[in-house]
Amino acid sequence: MLLIQLTGLSGAGKSTIANMVKTRLLDEGIPTIIIDGDEYRKTICADLGFSRADRCENIRRLGKVASSYCQQGMVAIIAAINPYQEARDELASLYKAKTVFIHCPLRVLIERDTKGLYRRALLDASHPEYITNLTGVNDPYEDPSHADLILNTSLSSPEEATAFFLDFIKKHL
Ligand code: ADX
Repeated sequence: MLLIQLTGLSGAGKSTIANMVKTRLLDEGIPTIIIDGDEYRKTICADLGFSRADRCENIRRLGKVASSYCQQGMVAIIAAINPYQEARDELASLYKAKTVFIHCPLRVLIERDTKGLYRRALLDASHPEYITNLTGVNDPYEDPSHADLILNTSLSSPEEATAFFLDFIKKHL
């Protein structure tokens, strides 16, 4: 029915907002599924790392999975960092996917650091816990050039962001 690709840095609130929206849509009888990057990276995307090519391939696979749910009449929401315009454009053109930018300034994400990834990426490269390729710190994030909706999670509460998102989805059903 409708394919939505979220995009935004780790910790920006993609999964939280997707889950809140899903609950509301299901309450209204609208079948909804979340295709979560973290989950699929343990299964059909477990062979992929965080290079540009691997991230684009990750999105390609998530898009294919999401599109098959859409064909069965569901709202499918891809919740992944999805950092490259090229990959987002591909899903927009193949599946008419709508792009929703879950925006949050890096300094706020570094403060929140729910998964402890930012702390590690900001360590000295010689530190044993140092990680590279963390989007927004030592790996690129291309801001969406034409997002269909932008939600700033440092300015809106999860409830407010969910309400905006829900409105947006209903307009496109
Ligand atoms: S994407 O770039 O290909 O869209 P995806 O959303 O599937 O990324 O996976 C990102 C998740 O992998 C993050 O939420 C985080 O938990 C984990 N992760 C581990 N290492 C990294 C890293 N170097 N960069 C980004 N995410 C990482």
